[in-house]
Amino acid sequence: MSSAGSLSSASCSAVACSEPNCDELLQRYLNIYWLRPENAFWTVLRSLAWRRVAMTPPMVDLSCGDGVFSFVHAGGAFGLSFDLFQAVGNLEQVTRDNADMFDHAAAAGYQPKVTRRPEWTIDVGTDLKASALSKASALNFYGRLVRHDNNEPLPFSDDEFQSVYCNSAKWVRNIEPFLSEVARIVRPGGAIVFHVKLDTIARYTLSPFRRQLGERVLELLDRGRLATWPSLASRAEWERRFQAAGLEIVEATPLATRTHAHIWDIGLRPIAPLLARMVGELTPETRLAIKRDWIALFSELLKPVCRLDFDLFADQREPAEMQYVLRPR
Ligand SMILES: C[S@@+](CC[C@H](N)C(=O)[O-])C[C@H]1O[C@@H](n2cnc3c(N)ncnc32)[C@H](O)[C@@H]1O
Repeated sequence: MSSAGSLSSASCSAVACSEPNCDELLQRYLNIYWLRPENAFWTVLRSLAWRRVAMTPPMVDLSCGDGVFSFVHAGGAFGLSFDLFQAVGNLEQVTRDNADMFDHAAAAGYQPKVTRRPEWTIDVGTDLKASALSKASALNFYGRLVRHDNNEPLPFSDDEFQSVYCNSAKWVRNIEPFLSEVARIVRPGGAIVFHVKLDTIARYTLSPFRRQLGERVLELLDRGRLATWPSLASRAEWERRFQAAGLEIVEATPLATRTHAHIWDIGLRPIAPLLARMVGELTPETRLAIKRDWIALFSELLKPVCRLDFDLFADQREPAEMQYVLRPR
């Protein structure tokens, strides 16, 4: 197993990210996630780490969701008139019941306005949610989309793929059988890229201030996140699981720091459904004008944060998310 050297080697300048450059990447992700800017910077970090790894077809994106993250990672871009807050629902239930506002059927008019096609495509995308897959199909980016629950055996034959990407393993209850299934569907010499959150993410929050803030404030900030991730684990435990599943660790790269996690912990998550309702009431012209200024502002605010090694704490702690490059043993 090799670890990704010194953290400074993970900075933007050291990563082959000249096209598009980091600023451009941040703007592309802000364009689609604008009302959740903390998700925009986190996806930039994932994309910067992922672009170190060559992905060879045939490739599967497990839990691809609406596909927009991978589409932009592959070099795609959307116009200002498109973002993910146009196809949201359950807005009144988000705060009360922790509903997922993105689990909402794409309206007939869901038409991602593509201004740049990706440089490569993905053969197969899978996801649990039909609503996400119907949005992904509108991208014409996946050769095939398959509805699948990762708690069940993967619906693919042995050695079917040369590469796999997955950033959603923490949602899987039956994690060890799932990892063995991933090992089964990848050819010898293939590449598997996993982005996994570590259990540190539960500690890099305001929870030490529970007494001062009260339970309700912490609940509103968490909005049910941690409860939906049954497989969250320490770095050592993820690495034990990979080994047990027959996956060799080729490279382990810290992808997000404690500081990233603290910024992400607060973000705009609690008010996002209200923001979505508010922008839903605007005329298209006003929405576009505000969105343009919003992206310009957050591009400046988040630019320094978009480095894999960005950390304001003096003492180094365990990262909040890791990129693992794996191959079947
Ligand atoms: C945070 S989203 C990430 C989606 C996409 N990979 C991205 O980066 O935008 C997590 C995804 O995992 C999917 N998911 C959750 N549980 C799952 C399961 N048991 N099997 C398959 N997909 C699941 C959800 O539907 C959702 O699309």
